[in-house]
Amino acid sequence: METNRNVMTYSTGEVKTVWVKLSGHTYPIHIGCNIFPLLGEELIRLNWKGKIGLITDENVAKHYLSDCENILKKVCPQGYVVHVLPSGEEYKTLEQIEHICTSMLKGGLDRSSGIVALGGGVVGDIAGYFSASYMRGIPFIQVPTTIVSQVDASIGGKTGVNHPLGKNILGAFHQPHSVLIDLNFLKTLPIRIYAEGFAEIIKHGVIADEGLFKYCMDKADSLMNRVLNSLLYPVIRSCEIKADIVMQDEKEQNIRAYLNYGHTFGHAFEAVTDYKKFLHGEAVSLGMIAAAELAVLMNYVDAEVPPLHRKVLQKYGLPISWKEVPIEEVLQAMQRDKKSKAGKLRFILPRKIGEVEIVADVPEALIRQALVKIKSE
Ligand code: GLY
Repeated sequence: METNRNVMTYSTGEVKTVWVKLSGHTYPIHIGCNIFPLLGEELIRLNWKGKIGLITDENVAKHYLSDCENILKKVCPQGYVVHVLPSGEEYKTLEQIEHICTSMLKGGLDRSSGIVALGGGVVGDIAGYFSASYMRGIPFIQVPTTIVSQVDASIGGKTGVNHPLGKNILGAFHQPHSVLIDLNFLKTLPIRIYAEGFAEIIKHGVIADEGLFKYCMDKADSLMNRVLNSLLYPVIRSCEIKADIVMQDEKEQNIRAYLNYGHTFGHAFEAVTDYKKFLHGEAVSLGMIAAAELAVLMNYVDAEVPPLHRKVLQKYGLPISWKEVPIEEVLQAMQRDKKSKAGKLRFILPRKIGEVEIVADVPEALIRQALVKIKSE
C-alpha cells in the first residue's frame, strides 16, 4: 500500500501524521504519546474566529478537563464554552444534542466557532453530529480517548445518535478538521474498555493486513500491559487502513463496508442484549468469529481461520463464545440493522486473513449454523 504517513516534530515531541485526503477536504490524524498539548497548535493553525465549544463526558472530565482548559485558555482569546455529557451509550440521544445546543447558544457560539470533542466514541459521535447540524454545520476536532475511538470512530466522519428503535439511526457524514490521538489517554482506561479496542485493531488486520493480525497475536502481552511503544504500530497501521478505505469510498457506497466486518452480527448481539451485556468491541469479537464461521460454511475460506480468530481474540480477554445465543432474536435484529440494503443482509466475509469481500444473498440456514458455532457448551 502506498504510504500516506509522515513524521513531524512539534513542540511536544515526535508525532506521526496520517492524512485523510478527500475531495475538497484534507485533514491530519496526529498520533503519538503525550501529544495532547498539540491541540493548542492545531487550534492556532485552524484559526477559528468564534468561541470554541468543548464537549466531553463526566469520566473523561475527571481526568483531563483541567489540562484541556489550560490549553484552551492559552490559545483561545475569544473564549470557550464547556459542556460535560453524562457517560454512557444510553446518553447518545437527540436529547443530549438539545442540551449541548442550549449550552452553546447561551455561551455565544456562532458560525465562526468550532468544537473540540474530547472523549470516546459516544462523545465523538454526539459532538460530531452536533457540529454537523449547529447553524447548518461548524468544524470540529476529534480528540479520542479510547482505543475504539482512536482507531475507528474518530476517523472518517460518521457522526450520529441513537433512536430507541435503532443504533446510529440519526446521523450525518461530517469530517473532522483534525484528529489528535494521544496514547497516554489509554493509561487511565478501565481494563475492559481498554481491551475491547483490540477487536477493532484485529478487525483491521483481518480486512487488510495479515502482518497487523500476526503482530496482535505475537505482542498481546505487552499490548495488554499497556506498553505504549508497542501500541504505536497497531494504532498507526489501523489509522492508515481506515484512512485509505475512507479516501476511496467516503460515503460507504462500496468498500467502506469492509470496516463493518463482524458488525452485522455484532450490532445484533448488542441490540438483543439491550446494549448491556457486551461492550461494542466485545460484540464485534463474537461477530467476527460468527462471520469467519459463516465464511467457512460458504466455502470462502479455510477452516483454520475461525480458530485463528478465537486464538488472537482470547489473548485480549475478548469473548469467543456465548452460552445462550438467542438465534431468532439475533436474526430479527439483523434484519432491522441499517446495514441491510432493501431488506437484504450483506455480510463482510474473509477470503483469507488480510482480505475480505462483500457477500449478499447469504442463505438464512447458514447464518443459523454460524450462530450455533459461537454457542458455548
Ligand atoms: N466504523 C465503520 C466506518 O467508519 O465506516
